[in-house]
Amino acid sequence: MNLKEQNRAPIYEAVEHFRKQHVVPFDVPGHKRGRGNPELVNFLGQQCVGVDVNSMKPLDNLCHPVSVIKDAEELAADAFGAAHSFFMVGGTTSAVQAMVLSACKAGDKIILPRNVHKSAINALILCGATPVYIDPKVDKELGIPLSMEAEDVKAAMEANPDAKAVLVNNPTYYGICSDLRTIVNLAHEHNMLALVDEAHGTHFYFSDKLPVSAMEAGADMASVSMHKSGGSLTQSSLLLLGPRMDHGYVSQIVNLTQTTSASYLLMGSLDISRRNLALHGKASFEKVAEMAQYARNEINAIGGYYAYGKELINGSSVFDFDVTKLVVLTHKIGLAGIEVYDLLRDEYDIQMEFGDISNLLAYISIGDSIQDIERLVGALADIERLYAKPAKNFFTAEYISPEVAVTPQKAFYSAKEPLALDKCIGRIVGESVMCYPPGIPILAPGEVITQDILEYIKFAKEKGCSMQGMESDDLSYLNVLSEY
Ligand SMILES: Cc1ncc(COP(=O)(O)O)c(C=O)c1O
Repeated sequence: MNLKEQNRAPIYEAVEHFRKQHVVPFDVPGHKRGRGNPELVNFLGQQCVGVDVNSMKPLDNLCHPVSVIKDAEELAADAFGAAHSFFMVGGTTSAVQAMVLSACKAGDKIILPRNVHKSAINALILCGATPVYIDPKVDKELGIPLSMEAEDVKAAMEANPDAKAVLVNNPTYYGICSDLRTIVNLAHEHNMLALVDEAHGTHFYFSDKLPVSAMEAGADMASVSMHKSGGSLTQSSLLLLGPRMDHGYVSQIVNLTQTTSASYLLMGSLDISRRNLALHGKASFEKVAEMAQYARNEINAIGGYYAYGKELINGSSVFDFDVTKLVVLTHKIGLAGIEVYDLLRDEYDIQMEFGDISNLLAYISIGDSIQDIERLVGALADIERLYAKPAKNFFTAEYISPEVAVTPQKAFYSAKEPLALDKCIGRIVGESVMCYPPGIPILAPGEVITQDILEYIKFAKEKGCSMQGMESDDLSYLNVLSEY
């Protein structure tokens, strides 16, 4: 990384220069630097609406960058060790979809763990590829899906030599990492592309004490949520390319669905955040890792909870662990993660990242302080004292092995009929069902509905998980395929 160059922020500098020029706007956006919408100015401030501008020659254009956006993307590529980078303004969802659409077309196979984010499954609906799912194995004690084991990936590649790509989570929402280097090498040996969802791994690029990043491992593409641990504005993200990828082709794929009115707030925030990470990321993430470790120690000292860390590493299904993630097992105090999540928000004004059936996740970042951590620890101690119940049998797994009967695209576009939940057993579902967050499908279009799956859905719903993906608001029915 060229540190001297990393001091620059070309989009930010160009927008600041433009602001000072007081150009008369006879272009969109129609609020005209806020003058036409005083309420918007009150809400966001003049500083913000004044730079909500459209593409123009001095500010470049995200659809075909030739000047400041191109420079900013090159600096990001340099900072992340990539051959190219794309600034993405449709969230990491748009980056994941661009990866899958670049690698696969209708009928192609892609190998992926079942605990992928819904953006990957939805990409299969868009392009018509067939998923070859790998069982990520489940830690029965923690009730979380782990990562794909390299041996299982190898077996899937040998059984499906015509697959075009493998997609890897680095890390999972819970901080678990696969043996990424080995999987990338296997992919290349089998003539496949290695795609990496790094929605939760931006910080891996800026510390040698954290798991290996996709680009360092030699992957072909990576989707990086700058807006998560990278500090940029919500919805801004990066798509990184390795040296084997055809930049021009990927650019065309990105432009299939990308807006023609990219926000300079988002692009400017990506530019500034990249500079910040390149110059200060290492020190920042060391501090984040220290805070998370402090929190783990304090929470484990309360009793009842288990905040897990590197001790999970086993050389295969937990090849590495992201120590910045603070995940807490709650079910031993008789409460589901989602129940503790609700109590923290409703009774203690603490908003967690998510709660699932057994766990609770706090997202620790460069914006947190030890005082905030102390508040969380205090609230958890209180909850344990006031609300703990005898531990019951909780569902042990987020993951139920899917039986894919037809491709997600075919299922999505097939004739369907609504059916009451209890009548759905044995039928093929035409829509997705997931708890959000984490957004990992319990059912994806084309899969067979089983008793286990229905019980899991009912339990998650009863515990208050936000259920998404399906048409029914209250999950009283599912759309199943009529013709099967
Ligand atoms: C693993 C994973 N991939 C992709 C995404 C999509 O990111 P975004 O919400 O920025 O579209 C998420 C979102 O949480 C995620 O958890």
